[in-house]
Amino acid sequence: MLKKIEDLREEISKINVTSLADVEELRIKYLGKKGIISALFEDFRNVPQQEKKEIGLVLNYLKTEAQEKINDLKSQFEAKTSRSQQIDLTMQGISFSVGSRHPVSIIKNQICEIFSTLGYTLSENREIEDDWHVFSALNFPPEHPARDMQDTFFISKNPDILLRTHTSSVQIRVMESQPPPIRAIFPGRVYRNEAISARAHCIFHQIEGLYIDKNVSFADLKQTLLVFAKEMFGQQTEIRLRPSFFPFTEPSAEMDISCSLCGGKGCAICKQTGWVEILGCGMVDPNVLENCYIDKNIYSGFAFGMGIERIAMLKYRINDIRLLFENDIRFLEQFQSV
Ligand code: PHE
Repeated sequence: MLKKIEDLREEISKINVTSLADVEELRIKYLGKKGIISALFEDFRNVPQQEKKEIGLVLNYLKTEAQEKINDLKSQFEAKTSRSQQIDLTMQGISFSVGSRHPVSIIKNQICEIFSTLGYTLSENREIEDDWHVFSALNFPPEHPARDMQDTFFISKNPDILLRTHTSSVQIRVMESQPPPIRAIFPGRVYRNEAISARAHCIFHQIEGLYIDKNVSFADLKQTLLVFAKEMFGQQTEIRLRPSFFPFTEPSAEMDISCSLCGGKGCAICKQTGWVEILGCGMVDPNVLENCYIDKNIYSGFAFGMGIERIAMLKYRINDIRLLFENDIRFLEQFQSV
């Protein structure tokens, strides 16, 4: 019997197979209920008492070795199949989703592009500002309501540090830091303490424009804005200027464009007037020039400012400003930049 066991151990150690089915066949052959090793255990009952210890030991070895061998072969095949599944060449590739630009960025870039062709440079500056750059230098009287807590987010009082309520603060920063001629636009985020609704948000984006040189006139402002409106909304677009008021411009105006949806006939977007307001503008107030040490007798200039969300909403017919801040992928995916 010892000889038989030793031969089997030898035989099993040399076994090689080519498929998972072969492994199962081997298991049945050696370890199955009616298998060779089970039969040996049957025979073991008849082994004389004095040989039991020695034969029992080898027989147990044989069984463990056979089990280990079969487990090894099995795991080899399993590993092979799962690895080959991983490199299934017929499988479809994983498609990467390509992000798209946010509509506010698309419109901002378009506006910057139009003004850069007109020779405007671009400047950005701080969002946390002091009272001087947001209000005082811009000719806001001390009791002006915009300085009120209701409109402005203050970070500290005395000295007043606040979140800028408009990008006009960058006008001042630029005029303080470089001599005329200045021809620049200033895009950026602004903050106002307003209730959030479909039409207003406490954070939004503006682009301000500033042109300071000798002999800059209101006619220059009007022509610049006409070119901008036609580039932005189409060549058929017309503009109209209505008198308005800003502390830092004199005279001041608000600009409307002919409604791009109904072409001026009257619709829900333009509230049946045929016109939609898109920006504020005016000739830079001489007091502002003086605050920035620019000689008001030599230089004059114009400034204008617009809300980027407003332009985006008009162009894309978005009826709720909150959509621009929620960042819902289903909304954002619809905008493709070129
Ligand atoms: N700063 C103004 C606003 O926030 C817009 C403006 C800019 C008006 C420049 C005139 C000139 O409403």
